[in-house]
Amino acid sequence: MATSNPTSSDPLAENTAANVCVVGAGIAGLTTAYLLAREGKRVIVLDDGPIGGGMTARTTAHLSNALDDRFYELERLFGEEGARLAAQSHTAAIDRVESIVREEKIECEFERVDGYLFLPTNGKMKVLEDELPAAHRAGLTGVRRLDRAPLDSFDTGPCLHFPQQAQFHPMKYLMGLAQAIRREGGRIFNGSHADEIEGGDGAHATTSSGYTVTADSIVVATNTPVNDRIAIHTKQAPYTTYVIGARIPKGSIPAMLLWDAPEDPYEGYHYIRIESLDDHDVLIVGGEDHKTGQQHDGAQRWGKLEQWTRTRFPMAGEIDFRWSGQVMEPIDCLAFIGRNPGDADNVFIATGDSGMGMTHGTIAGVLLSDLIVGRANPWTELYDPARKTLAATKDFAQENLNVAAQYTDLLTPGDVDSVDEIRKGQGCVVRSGLSKVAAYRDEDGTLHTVSAVCTHLGCIVTWNSAEKTWDCPCHGSRFDKLGSVINGPANKDLPPVDLD
Ligand SMILES: Cc1cc2nc3c(=O)[nH]c(=O)nc-3n(C[C@H](O)[C@H](O)[C@H](O)COP(=O)(O)OP(=O)(O)OC[C@H]3O[C@@H](n4cnc5c(N)ncnc54)[C@H](O)[C@@H]3O)c2cc1C
Ligand code: FES
Repeated sequence: MATSNPTSSDPLAENTAANVCVVGAGIAGLTTAYLLAREGKRVIVLDDGPIGGGMTARTTAHLSNALDDRFYELERLFGEEGARLAAQSHTAAIDRVESIVREEKIECEFERVDGYLFLPTNGKMKVLEDELPAAHRAGLTGVRRLDRAPLDSFDTGPCLHFPQQAQFHPMKYLMGLAQAIRREGGRIFNGSHADEIEGGDGAHATTSSGYTVTADSIVVATNTPVNDRIAIHTKQAPYTTYVIGARIPKGSIPAMLLWDAPEDPYEGYHYIRIESLDDHDVLIVGGEDHKTGQQHDGAQRWGKLEQWTRTRFPMAGEIDFRWSGQVMEPIDCLAFIGRNPGDADNVFIATGDSGMGMTHGTIAGVLLSDLIVGRANPWTELYDPARKTLAATKDFAQENLNVAAQYTDLLTPGDVDSVDEIRKGQGCVVRSGLSKVAAYRDEDGTLHTVSAVCTHLGCIVTWNSAEKTWDCPCHGSRFDKLGSVINGPANKDLPPVDLD
């Protein structure tokens, strides 16, 4: 966000029609819109914020086919052929981004780099031993084992080398896609919140200003589907992930992608890359994930990332950037891309990216445009949102028990006994009679109170002090400090309420 200059279009201000209406102008929505526009479809994109204002603005933009849940796990879940198709689709996605960048002459610093998967402290060698042959069986025959990654400051120990990965500037890439969509006759409307999305005959999306786009097909690319109440949200879980950007001398670390590989991907997983600026580089390190809305220690997590970074990269100087965002973790490791289960045949979704949203978003563009024009695609079944992965039943049960446990928050006391305890710039949930209220005191001392009951399925939101948002611990809906929805599956704001 600090190194790009995103543009926005005007909001939708009339009723109109298109072949395809795409809701969401992140990488999934814009790639889909671009590929369909190139095929001559009349495309309209609606986004309630600016282009790329969702998670695509917050990504660390590794473009990788080293799937973060490991190929041996994908084999367990989908068999050898499934793991092979997953590897093939992510490889194809990197190639597709590269060809779009070349064809559209998008200046987005796309660069092929090597990737290295190493073990964290006390990591299990078995992870690498199992992953190497599994990656080969999945078709990534160029993956090899090295004694360490090619870094002077940090001995990673044994690692797997994944060639032909890539990195790019995601916002500059999106701006290039947006320009190409417009050139092909597509239209993009920002500041246009899709309030109502209906499939079937007369499929349409209606914005909160009351204007309607009627379309033959609707693509909901809102990171997590805002049109699906339950089905998909029982199959994926929201995780908050943290990132720091440390200033380093130019050229002090070669451009590469690095990931550590704990046995359980949520135990201290780190992802690292270098961004080159004019007079220095930035070392971008992410990790410290936790289930959204269930931990409240963002500042400590950034602190831990900094400590981890300084131990391994002593050239790290000032921390210029700290941010966080949310990734949707599917219980069976792969995104959900295709027809929305239980909906009309002409409503499509792309969600469940895990930490692989740059490639999953590009796969979504290719797969959804094939489905919409009626072309066969070998990845259809693998990414089908209606799939039932029997081998993931245990994870499914665990995630949903975790969600069920969050509903007890309806009965517990508030975070503070009285709103007088809420300091400036802070938010707390307070009890008001039988209900709960999300109270935020702004920097002028004025108290703003909205219902703390999430407008998706009624969990109680919690205060995220790192980003100053209200986050729902159940399925990851997020609201700004004044209660406006910024992340689904909720699609309505938290309503203002008075305290009893
Ligand atoms: C910190 C972080 C690091 C990451 N690192 C990587 C990485 O290195 N590599 C990788 O591959 N992936 C990574 N990811 C994941 C990746 O960034 C995301 O999966 C991806 O950007 C999601 O793209 P999207 O298009 O699906 O959603 P988004 O980019 O979130 O776009 C969705 C859009 O929908 C709009 N919207 C939502 N609701 C409505 C509505 N009702 N009406 C209108 N518009 C609406 C939003 O405003 C938003 O612009 C990372 C994510 C985070 C948070
Ligand atoms: S996100 Fe589902 S209840 Fe809040």
